[in-house]
Amino acid sequence: MRGNEEKSGEAVGAVAILGAGLIGCSWAALFAATGRPIHLYDSHVDAGAKFAEFWNAVRDTLAEMGLPHTPVMPEYRVFGSPADAVTDVDFVQECIPERLELKRVLYKEIEPALRPTAVVATSSSGLKLSDLQDGWQNPRNLIIAHPFNPPHIIPLVELYGNEATMPEALGVARGLYESCGKKTITLKREVMGHVANRLQAALWREAIHLVAEDVASVRDVDIAISAGPGMRWAVMGPHMLLNLGGGQEGIRAYCEQFRDSYALWWDDLGKPNLDHDTVSKLIDGLEEEIGGRDYNALRRERDTKLIALLGAIKQVETENNEPAVVG
Ligand SMILES: NC(=O)c1ccc[n+]([C@@H]2O[C@H](COP(=O)([O-])OP(=O)(O)OC[C@H]3O[C@@H](n4cnc5c(N)ncnc54)[C@H](O)[C@@H]3O)[C@@H](O)[C@H]2O)c1
Repeated sequence: MRGNEEKSGEAVGAVAILGAGLIGCSWAALFAATGRPIHLYDSHVDAGAKFAEFWNAVRDTLAEMGLPHTPVMPEYRVFGSPADAVTDVDFVQECIPERLELKRVLYKEIEPALRPTAVVATSSSGLKLSDLQDGWQNPRNLIIAHPFNPPHIIPLVELYGNEATMPEALGVARGLYESCGKKTITLKREVMGHVANRLQAALWREAIHLVAEDVASVRDVDIAISAGPGMRWAVMGPHMLLNLGGGQEGIRAYCEQFRDSYALWWDDLGKPNLDHDTVSKLIDGLEEEIGGRDYNALRRERDTKLIALLGAIKQVETENNEPAVVG
């Protein structure tokens, strides 16, 4: 990082990716597509082969998103230890499995090798920062930076740092992610599952309940979201939408009209378990919904539609001079 760009994050050069699984490869592809050299480390798989395979699968998508650096193969290096992978970088994106003990062991290995101002951003879906800070000599470098799958496409990154975090860390992270076209939110205090996964968990809980209780099929529950509220949620959040649902008088009128209904609905919501029978029911229902398409076909379908949606939103935002979702 250099001069007065230091806090912007845009000047971050090489990025180290620890863990070359689903999320690590996706982050690596995004950072590479913005011209940043990638340092890879994975303790179990051939990180280079995994990344190359992922890059080949998503390169056209990244180009379609307008990302500027989509060569046949970008610049990356594979390292034999996590300490070597982080030594010469200003930013580390940690993407190893969601297990507290594993992450703590990894942090112990990399801490002595970190540059003093390097940011270590964990992709953790829901672990608490205070738990992840345990075991560091000084956890100033560590922040939460939780993406939504697939990180190379979905704009959201949830950020969190606390009083032990170095003051510039969140600014650097925000600058880096926003220079890659991401939209960041910053938690005011820590909570397990952060924000978006708690919201997803609340919705999925009821979706499972509706299937388990035979109210609707898996396919129909999925359509109830993707063809209904899900379409609205892609352009505005629930508070803003229900503000519109209240007419000219806004959310106050909405709350007055539906206060009693919501009280009844909230009381009636389910609390399912992911027991054997429920999971089997979800699998059977999904088989019907999938109708023979394989994983790659489903992923292509999801990504093509997401890119189209993001492109349309970006066009409207540009016309309205709003801050862009995709950079
Ligand atoms: N899968 C999702 O939808 C999703 C979404 C957002 C965030 N996340 C978070 O991202 C992180 C990674 O999840 P994922 O889905 O990519 O997992 P994954 O299992 O696909 O990948 C994890 C990778 O880490 C490697 N690994 C395991 N132990 C390691 C170690 N000690 N050092 C280096 N590499 C190691 C594994 O070999 C594997 O390649 C988790 O914290 C998860 O909560 C996942």
